[in-house]
Order: sequence, then structure tokens, then C-alpha cells
Amino acid sequence: MLPQASSPVYRAIQFAIVVCGAYFVFALLFSPSEPQKWPRPSLHLSKDGFRDPKLEHIQNDTLGFEHIYAIGLKERTDKRDFLNLAASVTGIKVQWVDGVHIDELEQKALPVGYNLSTMVPSIIACWRAHMNALNRVLENSYSTALIMEDDADWDLNIKSQLTEFARGLHALKANASTDNAPYGTAWDVLWIGGCSSTAGVNETEFYVIPNDPTVPSFSRRHTWSGPKDRWVEMYPEESTRFVYKAERGCCTFGYAVTQRGARKILAALSLDHVDVPVDIAMAELCGGENGRDRLECYAPYPNIVGTFRQGGPAYRNSDIVSNDDQSLQVAHSENMVYSSRLNIHRVLAGKPALSQWEEEAPWSPKELPENLEEFPYPRGYLVNELDGE
Ligand SMILES: *[C@@H]1O[C@H](CO)[C@@H](O)[C@H](O)[C@H]1NC(C)=O
Ligand SMILES: *[C@@H]1O[C@H](CO)[C@@H](O)[C@H](O)[C@H]1NC(C)=O
Ligand SMILES: *[C@@H]1O[C@H](CO)[C@@H](O)[C@H](O)[C@H]1NC(C)=O
Ligand SMILES: *[C@@H]1O[C@H](CO)[C@@H](O)[C@H](O)[C@H]1NC(C)=O
Repeated sequence: MLPQASSPVYRAIQFAIVVCGAYFVFALLFSPSEPQKWPRPSLHLSKDGFRDPKLEHIQNDTLGFEHIYAIGLKERTDKRDFLNLAASVTGIKVQWVDGVHIDELEQKALPVGYNLSTMVPSIIACWRAHMNALNRVLENSYSTALIMEDDADWDLNIKSQLTEFARGLHALKANASTDNAPYGTAWDVLWIGGCSSTAGVNETEFYVIPNDPTVPSFSRRHTWSGPKDRWVEMYPEESTRFVYKAERGCCTFGYAVTQRGARKILAALSLDHVDVPVDIAMAELCGGENGRDRLECYAPYPNIVGTFRQGGPAYRNSDIVSNDDQSLQVAHSENMVYSSRLNIHRVLAGKPALSQWEEEAPWSPKELPENLEEFPYPRGYLVNELDGE
């Protein structure tokens, strides 16, 4: 039985226009914004030319994770071709995990909360595909793995971005790295790809990367929530990337798990209960909401992995919601500047990559150098609000 067009569930998923996720959750948490005595950066880590050997593995073809999976339906060969190409030009290797069809779902195999006759089955199929990917992480005993969806897109500078993200993680978390795990393994989820993220309500420490050339200006973004109001009073949201301990994320375009994280997510979302789409359920875990034990999640804002929407009729976007939306959209990639997909032909032709809007901002040039290693990426630093008190 399909959900009625008037049911709340159906209405909720009309907005879901990618494979999994893009369920627009507007975080309702607002930070108090009384004036703060703002500290000067207490730990400025900028050391130009200094390379940290622990972080060098981020340059490898699994981005310093032990493995990368991409989830997608086998028959969406168009999406597989495109993601494989984008990965290839970025120097990334992915292994595919097949998406799940609704006729493969069995009510008796579902956790408490999911009901095939009252929920949109493709939302449950999406959850199952993510659970299958987590199973693969456990079966292979990977210490860390990045899981992406087949619409994922990223900036051509992703290796520089992730190196600085890892520095942020180490600054926020003593002992985060070891020689063979550039991000460390003492966390559950790194929610690097999604539509948005939210800083934890009690967090006072955050890492800032000011004037990040890969941060799209605010008017070009589709994010919400994010850092606390107090933080953006000091560091302009427009041009800064923030890294923090997150209590929420949205959309599962790309997230990393440790072995520990994969186990906890499976325990919570398969053994226990789940009654919402998988990305919202993961947000519950990061926030410790809805009776969940809290997972340790970190996120950048804006997110580093976004989603690509191809040009043409909108119905081709999603394998969750089938509709006949013939409205035409222009190809675009959300929340990134130098999209690997939008630049694919330029990169193959040996031309320098462009900002997707072919425009520059004071912190972000219109064009990348041909050799990405010549593109300077700024160093960030840790800020602790309490230092100034
Ligand atoms: C990349 O680096 C990570 C972290 O050191 C490592 O676990 C992984 O095996 C490396 N991947 C490849 C393909 O070398
Ligand atoms: C699923 O929903 C239907 C309709 O409300 C109900 O009859 C059925 O008992 C539910 N199944 C489970 C397993 O909750
Ligand atoms: C860092 O690791 C060392 C060695 O494992 C340990 O002794 C120390 O307590 C750790 N520090 C923190 C802050 O976790
Ligand atoms: C935030 O701090 C308050 C007050 O100490 C505490 O009650 C609450 O549980 C904390 N929330 C989280 C998510 O840690």
C-alpha cells in the first residue's frame, strides 16, 4: 500500500529529492547571544610549509580513511559513471554497495518503528542500504571508512580541506591521531558530507578556518543552523569554515565512521528502534535525543561533501521518491565552490577548474591554478570562548 498523497509522511518526503536524505530539518536550537568578551585565538597553528607526517595519508586514494564505500542502485549506471569519474580525477577509489529495492524489504526484518504499510518504503530501503554499508565495515574490520551516496560531490581541493579538518579534530580532541589513522579513531562519526550541521549546545571550543577559498558565500548556500550565533559574530559565516563537535547533521551524502561508530549505529538503528529517515536517526544519535545514547560526532560547517544535481528534468534526481517532476533545473552542486563534477570536462581537457558560479569572492578566486598543489589553503586555529573570561 502506498502512502496517501495527503498523509504527513508523503508530504514530508515530497521534499526529498536525492537518493537518501535532503530531509530538511531545521534545528530549533538558538544560542543565547548576549555580548561576549571575545578571546584572541589562543592556539594559532599556522605553520606555513610545515607538513605533518601523520596527516600525509589524507593524500592517499582513500582520503586517509581505511576504505571508501559509495551507495547506489545498480541500475543507476549514469550516477555510477559520474561518481567514478569524479573520484578518478580527484585521486579517490570507491567501492560500490548496491542500493536496496523496496521488494527486498521484509516487514519482519525491520526494527521497531518502521512499518512498510505506513511509511514510504523507499525511505526504509535507503536506511537498509546504509545498514548494509555499515555491515561491510564490520565484516572487513576497517578501523575507519567513509560512506558516500551516489550523488555526492566534493571540491577538487578535498584533500586540503580534509587535512585542515583533521587538524581541527586534533586541536579539539587531544590524542586524536595515530600514525596510521590521520583522523584518529576515538570518535564515532565524522559528518563531513550533508546539507548542514549544528554545533553541540554546550560546546565552547571550535576550530576556525578563516578566508577559506572553498567556502561558498552565504547567498550561494543552502545550509541552516551551523555554528553558534556567538561564534559567527566574531568570524564571518560568509567566508569561514568551522569545525566542531556536532549534535546534529542532516543528509547522509558522506560520513565517516570508526569501527566503534559503525557498531553503535547498527545497534541503535537496527537492533533498537528507528521511525524516521536514516539521516534524521543519525542526527538523533549525535544529539543523544529520543532516548538514544549519544555518539561522538564532529562536523565541518559548511559541510565538505555536498550533492550534485544534474541539469534537466528534476525527477531524475531521486530513487526514493518517484515522481514525474518535469521541471527543468540547471546542473549545480550544493555548498561547494570548485565542484569536481561541474568541472569534469575542464579537468579532462587540462583546463583550470572554475568556481561553479564563475565568480570570485574576496576570499575565493574564480579560477584554480592548473596544479592544485599551488593553491594555498589556509591554516585554521582553535578558539575557546572561555579563554577570554
Ligand atoms: C590510506 O591511509 C589510511 C590511513 O593511514 C590507511 O588506513 C589506508 O589503508 C590507506 N589507503 C591506501 C589505499 O593506501
Ligand atoms: C503497520 O501498520 C499497519 C496499519 O496501521 C498495522 O495494521 C500493522 O499492525 C503495523 N505493523 C507493525 C509491525 O507495526
Ligand atoms: C593521550 O594518550 C596518552 C597515551 O596513550 C595517555 O597517557 C593520555 O592520558 C592521553 N591524553 C588524553 C587527554 O586523552
Ligand atoms: C548541557 O549542559 C547542561 C547543563 O550542564 C546539561 O544539563 C545538559 O545535559 C548538557 N547537554 C549535553 C548535550 O551535553
